[in-house]
Amino acid sequence: MFADRVLSGMRPTGSLHLGHYHGVLKNWVQMQHEYECLFFVADWHALTTHYDTPQIIEQSVWDMVVDWLAAGVDPAHATLFIQSRVPEHAELHLLLSMITPLGWLERVPTYKDQQEKLSEKDLSTYGFLGYPLLQSADILIYRATQVPVGEDQVPHIEFTREIARRFNHIYGREPGFEEKAEAAVKKLGGKKAKLYAELRTRYQEQGDDEALESAKSLLDEQQSLSHGDRERLFGYLEGGGKMILSEPQAMLTAASKMPGLDGQKMSKSYNNTITLREDEASVTKKIRTMPTDPARIRRTDAGDPDKCPVWPLHLVYSNEQTKQWVMQGCKSAGIGCIECKQPVIDAVLEEQRPMRERAQLYLDDPVLVRNIIADGCEKARKLASETMRDVREAMGLGYS
Ligand code: TRP
Ligand code: SF4
Repeated sequence: MFADRVLSGMRPTGSLHLGHYHGVLKNWVQMQHEYECLFFVADWHALTTHYDTPQIIEQSVWDMVVDWLAAGVDPAHATLFIQSRVPEHAELHLLLSMITPLGWLERVPTYKDQQEKLSEKDLSTYGFLGYPLLQSADILIYRATQVPVGEDQVPHIEFTREIARRFNHIYGREPGFEEKAEAAVKKLGGKKAKLYAELRTRYQEQGDDEALESAKSLLDEQQSLSHGDRERLFGYLEGGGKMILSEPQAMLTAASKMPGLDGQKMSKSYNNTITLREDEASVTKKIRTMPTDPARIRRTDAGDPDKCPVWPLHLVYSNEQTKQWVMQGCKSAGIGCIECKQPVIDAVLEEQRPMRERAQLYLDDPVLVRNIIADGCEKARKLASETMRDVREAMGLGYS
């Protein structure tokens, strides 16, 4: 199977729009063919900021899953689930909270930023402060290697890596680690044991990162290793103790430059969006009534696309030929604005057509969606419980 595991979550706080499609979902759709992918509805995260409007969350959860499916996220290729249906996330969050210094949480940049930005809400809550740690639990519980996020979330991934390191540092030091690790090396069998030892020496003595990577992929391929031995051998490579939790990488998704209906970035808070499955009449009307270059008052006035909010949409949707037609036609007053907007309208409608069709299937039969999620939750829970077993044991809770 895949050595990399991708995990990402989205908060259900309203309907998704074309900005989400271009910024996030298109990327998910592509990744599902390249990696093992887990995508989840971050309903607990939504409560950290929307605790006083649970109706919004409730409404948005299923709509959001339908939006994902409409966009082409395919349950045959990705595991889709809801955070609150995998309560192990909460257990790991609690256990990690025991070793999380308050200062680390207070220093996460989104903490102060969001409090200022959402000043109409009282976000001086325990849940809001702890939200990056909940995110760490989401990631670490699946031992995800890659986490696709936007720029603003990179500090959360860095925070997660620090938590994993701290956890391994505190709990990875079992008595007799070296002996157990050496015994595990032997279990790899003659040739592979020798290769592992050589690669480990090359990394530890010469800092050879390639050797480290080769050794890691060697371990990835060993299906017969027990979980404990695998953790020991990963930890032994880098010198420390057991690696119970693994450090994820942020996978930076290029910031979505999807323009909204007013030239600003498309965002719900600017009220300038086209929703993912918006009906055709409404899309047409929204684009037809978009503001244009304010200097073009009459049809006979020349305009400048660089001063017009419609132009950025042409940059997303139009080919070279159309863009030239716009440039020339606008600057020479050769075309009217309604005419100019038509190719954008056509392109948006065409982009949405397959999404609307796919969505219809699920709207006609909501049980399909429920089943996809039930299935995904079951798979996710299985993965989560494996990690939790190790974590409980490491923290002295493995009573039997
Ligand atoms: N915090 C993310 C956001 O606000 C959502 C999220 C929650 C997430 N848990 C995650 C993203 C884990 C990636 C991985 O957009
Ligand atoms: Fe904008 Fe097109 Fe009108 Fe020019 S012709 S002002 S680019 S809508």
